[in-house]
Amino acid sequence: MIDIWIEKYRPKSLDEISGQAEIVEKLKAFVRAREIPHLIFAGPAGTGKTSAALALAAELFGGEDWKMSFLELNASNERGGIDVIREQVKDFARIRPSNSLGFKIIFMDEADQLTSEAQAALRRTMEMYSETTRFIFSCNYSSQIIPPIQSRTVVLRFRPLSKEDVVKRLKYIAEQEKVDLSDDSAEAIYEASEGDMRKALNIFQAVASSGNTSPSRIFEMVGGKTSRKEYEKLLRISLEGLFEDARNELDRMLIQQGMSGIDIIRGGLHSAVRSSQIEPRKKAEVIMALGEAEFRIVEGGERQHTAGRPHSQAILHRWKAQLKSSSFGSLFTPPTLPSMFLCILLSFLRLEK
Ligand SMILES: Nc1ncnc2c1ncn2[C@@H]1O[C@H](COP(=O)(O)OP(=O)(O)OP(=O)(O)O)[C@@H](O)[C@H]1O
Ligand SMILES: [Mg+2]
Repeated sequence: MIDIWIEKYRPKSLDEISGQAEIVEKLKAFVRAREIPHLIFAGPAGTGKTSAALALAAELFGGEDWKMSFLELNASNERGGIDVIREQVKDFARIRPSNSLGFKIIFMDEADQLTSEAQAALRRTMEMYSETTRFIFSCNYSSQIIPPIQSRTVVLRFRPLSKEDVVKRLKYIAEQEKVDLSDDSAEAIYEASEGDMRKALNIFQAVASSGNTSPSRIFEMVGGKTSRKEYEKLLRISLEGLFEDARNELDRMLIQQGMSGIDIIRGGLHSAVRSSQIEPRKKAEVIMALGEAEFRIVEGGERQHTAGRPHSQAILHRWKAQLKSSSFGSLFTPPTLPSMFLCILLSFLRLEK
């Protein structure tokens, strides 16, 4: 059977958790004090919320039976809704804790999926068993937890993992699994993961099992997740009017990385433009041009090609006229519509300058 790396490499202790240094310190202090308040773990997916709850319980209760003192519930899985959840909480809380600390932990995953009414009902249950249970609520945004629960809990905010943390963990796993992983590949996985360790490990396992962990294989695997730097470069050279360079860069993304025009626009160009330093008026123009290109690609994709569509053809003619140089004529013959529209867009930006 193949081990799933996200489970195989789930941190087993607080020390093994990457990043989240302040949180780990606080949790260790709870372990030393042998007591915890009710907690909210808030933050994006794959940053260690469930792992931290499990490691905390394991260290607090110790031994083999710590699982007897830990109940994991998932708000969005429990069919029958809040009544079923409250019953499960009651059944678990009624039995005296078998550990020496005198309380048990209930981990409520995806707590922000519960309606406010359900949360209010849960809050009453929480009060009823406060002597012998501590709740840990996991959610993406703590603002979606009702104030009466928030005011009874300590909120710990998990952050996306840094490049250093993800790369370090990937290198460690590569060593354990005896898989090659270059620095470039580790960085490419980080870029695609956006600081989500679960995603990073899933991508790594997928490319490792395909026997090729090269950056281009990674780009292929994640389809459309090119690094931010590449988008910034594409934007910069197209704004500088280096048309040939921009087209080469674009071809590389389209052909070597197997991305579609839409991937490129939605997947990164938009955010590269938004976070770039270009002056506001120019920025607005670029965003409009991107919108136009995106619309054209979608429309072109739906109808296969634009030939015979008078409106699109008129636009193409206008742009063609603007392009002046005859060498651009070759752009208007296929291979691909997306690349055509992106090239039009790029040259458009150049000519507007
Ligand atoms: N901080 C971390 N350090 C080490 N590994 C991590 C970390 N965060 C996540 N992982 C890896 O990703 C897997 C999933 O993490 P975990 O279940 O803790 O995420 P989560 O924050 O609870 O995400 P979700 O919001 O989707 O429930 C873990 O099993 C582990 O392999
Ligand atoms: Mg989780």
